[in-house]
Amino acid sequence: MSKKLIIANWKMNFSVADSRRAAVALAARIKKLPKGVEKDLPHVVLCPSFSAIRVVQEAILSVRGRVHVGAQDCFWNGKGAFTGEESPVFLKELGVEYIIVGHSERRMYLGETDEMVGRKIQSFVLEKSLIPILCVGEKKEERASLIRKRVINRQIISAISAIRDVKPKRPFVIAYEPVWAIGTGNVCTVADWVAINLFIQAVLKSQLGTAYTKKWCRILYGGSVSGKNSKDFVSRGVGDGALVGGASLNASDFYTIIRCAV
Ligand code: PGA
Repeated sequence: MSKKLIIANWKMNFSVADSRRAAVALAARIKKLPKGVEKDLPHVVLCPSFSAIRVVQEAILSVRGRVHVGAQDCFWNGKGAFTGEESPVFLKELGVEYIIVGHSERRMYLGETDEMVGRKIQSFVLEKSLIPILCVGEKKEERASLIRKRVINRQIISAISAIRDVKPKRPFVIAYEPVWAIGTGNVCTVADWVAINLFIQAVLKSQLGTAYTKKWCRILYGGSVSGKNSKDFVSRGVGDGALVGGASLNASDFYTIIRCAV
């Protein structure tokens, strides 16, 4: 079985200096692990602000290969007159491997649509060889009106429509992040997570085929994952890991989540 994936989404919380401190602290903890334990560690990805990517890469040099760097978003085009946007080509040049795509905060505050998310996935996977972390999930009112599967189905299908026929042999990560769970301390029940995980697998299999889905797609949970509840989401056989916001800002909480994910 492949390793679990634990992703820290620092959002816009850490300054450059904070990011360096957090990355140095994590690298120190990982380096101190006794030999043998290290090989059980999950694949860890830190997603700092664009401005802190370089210092984080420097801070984790000693644990390279075990801790990776991702970005929280970027534009679909590689180059051109797109003031204020970040380029996937430039991020790739920096050594970034993962990109979060379609986070609900971007959908909510910046008007990111399913169509824009689809263009980004197409660009990152087909042209730029970056690994997308596609965020999907329903809002509270969508859950209450029992349309969450319809919402998630729509988000996934429009995001992957461009890669459906090509089926590039590259990893593809989906994070189920119910919007009502993000930053609220509310999490979905384990039974619910199992059910939605199966549903997402079924959607992916219907679009990309069973063999492809099993080999290349990984499904994470996100939304108020903490040191206390991480067992439910990362170590009990369901899912492939977690996308962690608030708890990734706390060194010991994040380390607990990492150690749970075996
Ligand atoms: P949270 O955020 O862990 O603070 O709920 C998760 C996310 O938004 O990715």
